[in-house]
Amino acid sequence: MSGGPIIVMDRVSKKFGDVPAVEEFSLAIEEGEFITLLGPSGCGKSTALKMIAGLLPLSAGTITISPPKSGAEQDLGFVFQEPTLMPWASVFDNVFLPLRLAGVGRGDGEPRVRNALKEVGLSQFADYYPRELSGGMKMRVSIARALVTRPRILLMDEPFAALDEMTRSKLNNDVMKLSVDHGLTVVFVTHSVFESVFLSSRVIVMAARPGRLTADMPLQAPWPRGEDYRMSQEFSAEARRISETLKGTLHVDNIDR
Ligand SMILES: Nc1ncnc2c1ncn2[C@@H]1O[C@H](COP(=O)(O)OP(=O)(O)O)[C@@H](O)[C@H]1O
Ligand SMILES: [Mg+2]
Repeated sequence: MSGGPIIVMDRVSKKFGDVPAVEEFSLAIEEGEFITLLGPSGCGKSTALKMIAGLLPLSAGTITISPPKSGAEQDLGFVFQEPTLMPWASVFDNVFLPLRLAGVGRGDGEPRVRNALKEVGLSQFADYYPRELSGGMKMRVSIARALVTRPRILLMDEPFAALDEMTRSKLNNDVMKLSVDHGLTVVFVTHSVFESVFLSSRVIVMAARPGRLTADMPLQAPWPRGEDYRMSQEFSAEARRISETLKGTLHVDNIDR
């Protein structure tokens, strides 16, 4: 499966006017990794993710995604913090949207939409409208929509921050399973230490002003991880280790100001 990094960011910088949102950010991500970008608000996590997605031009540096896919095939799926569903369209039509935009007909698209809905546990809800769904279910629709084009890379920007703790844990379990089943490479943004420790193969700690990478911390616990891991001493120890690194980062940040 692996043959060198799938995403390479080389000294990537982004300025908004005079504000350096991300500075000299370098990171190589191997295929199948589950990377979290962890850091305080304003440290450039969303900016970094949008640049990987090609949604924001870089001010300097390069991002290489290899090998690039040709044609209308989507290589990247993006899940935002808000589910961003079309309120007037059914769950089915919301998930079908990226296929429709890629020129796939309804007949060809239908089995793929049904399959994506099944994978997020929403087979029974294809004809529902977003207003009829809970926050967690809306997020599941958003994940199905990101996966329906079968991307190799899934980018997620604080997708579960607005959800209650139980829903969030459940979705963490499901995203981990999906990423293993599909051999996805995931870049996941969060400011939750626990979420990062539970999900990731590697945590990238970032600091603000300017947004930059301050620590690159691999996590060894084998996948897939479940409730046993969440309750384990290893989990607590890793959470403490990452938490302390993050605090160190914030401390440096305060001195800088
Ligand atoms: N479109 C924009 N215009 C101007 N400044 C922006 C814009 N987007 C982000 N920023 C600034 O860039 C920095 C990083 O923002 P962001 O990537 O959203 O951080 P995070 O996602 O880690 O909270 C912040 O200082 C933010 O105010
Ligand atoms: Mg953000």
